[in-house]
Amino acid sequence: MSQEDSMPGTGTALGAPAERREGHLKVTGGARYAAEYDLPGRAQAWPVPATVARGRVTAVDAAAALRLPGVLAVLTHENAPRIAEPEDPILGVLQNPAVPHRGWFVALVVAESLEAARAGAAAVRVEYAAEDHDVTLTTDHPDAYEPESVNGEHPTRREHGRRASDSPAARVNVAYEVPPLHNHPMEPHASTAHWDQGHLTVYSSSQGGTTVRETLAALFGIPEERITVVADHVGGGFGSKGTPRPDVVLAAMAARETGRPVTVSFPRRFLPAVVGHRAPTLHRVRLGADADGRLTSLTHEVTTHTSRIKEFVEQAAVPARVMYDASHSLTVHRVARLDVPTPSWMRAPGEAPGMYALESAMDELAAELGMDPVELRIVNEPEREPDSGKPFSSRHLVDCLREGARRFDWSRRDPRPGSRAEGPLLIGTGVASATYPVLVSPSTAEARALPDGTFVVRVNATDIGTGARTVLAQVAADALEVPLERVRTEVGSSDLPSAPLAGGSSGTASWGWAVHVACRELAGLLTAHTGPLPAEGIRAHADTSGRADAESPYARHAFGAHFAEVGVDTVTGEVRVRRLLGVYAAGRILNARTARSQFVGGMTMGLGMALTEGSTMDAAFGDFTECDLASYHVPAHADVPGVEAHWLDETDAHLNPMGSKGVGEIGIVGTAAAIGNAVHHATGVRFRVLPLTPDKVL
Ligand code: MOS
Repeated sequence: MSQEDSMPGTGTALGAPAERREGHLKVTGGARYAAEYDLPGRAQAWPVPATVARGRVTAVDAAAALRLPGVLAVLTHENAPRIAEPEDPILGVLQNPAVPHRGWFVALVVAESLEAARAGAAAVRVEYAAEDHDVTLTTDHPDAYEPESVNGEHPTRREHGRRASDSPAARVNVAYEVPPLHNHPMEPHASTAHWDQGHLTVYSSSQGGTTVRETLAALFGIPEERITVVADHVGGGFGSKGTPRPDVVLAAMAARETGRPVTVSFPRRFLPAVVGHRAPTLHRVRLGADADGRLTSLTHEVTTHTSRIKEFVEQAAVPARVMYDASHSLTVHRVARLDVPTPSWMRAPGEAPGMYALESAMDELAAELGMDPVELRIVNEPEREPDSGKPFSSRHLVDCLREGARRFDWSRRDPRPGSRAEGPLLIGTGVASATYPVLVSPSTAEARALPDGTFVVRVNATDIGTGARTVLAQVAADALEVPLERVRTEVGSSDLPSAPLAGGSSGTASWGWAVHVACRELAGLLTAHTGPLPAEGIRAHADTSGRADAESPYARHAFGAHFAEVGVDTVTGEVRVRRLLGVYAAGRILNARTARSQFVGGMTMGLGMALTEGSTMDAAFGDFTECDLASYHVPAHADVPGVEAHWLDETDAHLNPMGSKGVGEIGIVGTAAAIGNAVHHATGVRFRVLPLTPDKVL
């Protein structure tokens, strides 16, 4: 037996800080992204965005564009291929003259080069019949309504318990505001499409190729078997690539129309209008508590916007249904249809802005009560999930708070605001809780044992930067009880066994479950097998339908506690985060290195949400003002201090065979509130409108 063979299988591979298997390819430029498939004869395309916020196209003059060298075609609603009515209205591009919002694509120029396509797009003349538009969200907007449900997933309104008749010992009644936020993945949305004898191949930057294939089949009226969707490497998405975007539809149309492979890669400035955004949320939070800090009432009302063509509701009052015990609770969502781009998922949709508001209000309540904010959260710990009455599969929020407080030296904090200064800096610390649901979807996977003693695991998982190849190999090695080095994984193509998207922090749990089942099955086959393996190996297939989507008797969520230290410059108004610390209860951590990256990445995004990220709707123009990274400020390295992510060794038998919860989103959830609460502790002033830019703070 070699040293490797003597390694026990179970328990060594899972949890190890294995390095990303594609890391070398990525840093050496060897990893190919959707726009980089330079197929023979490949053409490039550039979309033409609408310049009115509401109305319709009355004329398109493409003559000047078509005369430019290298321009091959100009697609408009008049000549573009007809597609079936899409389930998602944002994909119905170039089908009719209607303009539902500024930035909606009204033409696509296809050319020999990117430069020629861009020049062509600038030469297309579009005339509009413009109508009055309204893009301004207010809490008393006359069009705001309570939707039938929150995206078909949650009730719009929930009320529990009885309103207390006597007056509470302390109360807060406050409004918070989170502006529109943009998904700006490193790799903008892109697709390269190619038709070959009726077979459509698309290289698409997507969080889930399965949905892309289903969607293209429906839109173009061809069977799924005649479509291949490849998403080998994806440069982030944060939700915006969780559903197909117009790039893939336009690329397929243009490729069919020109008979050439075509790449549609969105210029970054076009993203905010067409890839979804986090909708602005206006929050009203009312809390009442008795003298011991126990919540007698908890009300969270959210008003948000959606577009004219699609109802998407930022589910920001949903987390309040999970967090605390209150004798009476009320959570409500309202939404107004405006002439704005269609909002969608952005990392922890709902939880991120909702917990900013709730956890800021909890801090305000702690101050009213003269109580430690960690203790206030602990005394309101529920026995069961407040909304459903279900027991938690595991919770451990209190342990996260205690462990975080210990690591952060919270006990040495002077609770008085403004009590700590260093020259012109006021220093403060803050805390907030975090939660994110455990989601999981059915998946299939295949595992194969080869005669040389190696294994191949195949599943159409997508690696959006998380290291999916690596962690799935770990899951497989654990289930097979073999060393990690002997397992290879193939992901990112619809030729592989079908799998759900990388979204909702559910990818690893969903794919891993199927990989685990396939590998256990294969291990059984191998035990029963005698003699050498056949050349093609032996294989097992798994499908977790019926298991992964079964209703659980438990409320399943990950929890966390965030601590922040800030310095507020009293001369410039600048807020700098000096320390961020998160402690998570997220089930079993399957790869310590890549999980830590997810937590730290989420916290960094929360730092941006707290301090610099924010978009404004220009009321006159009807458009987002901050459309590029020069004006929409995501944190750079210099903005990010040492960020610490820790986790509890949490065992939860009610999740999946690996016992994991999901780590992609919870890191962003409590970060902004912890920073905001630290700013209050530093300055004694409550700022309730994000981001906390110097103009607000001074
Ligand atoms: Mo995430 S916002 O579900 O990709």
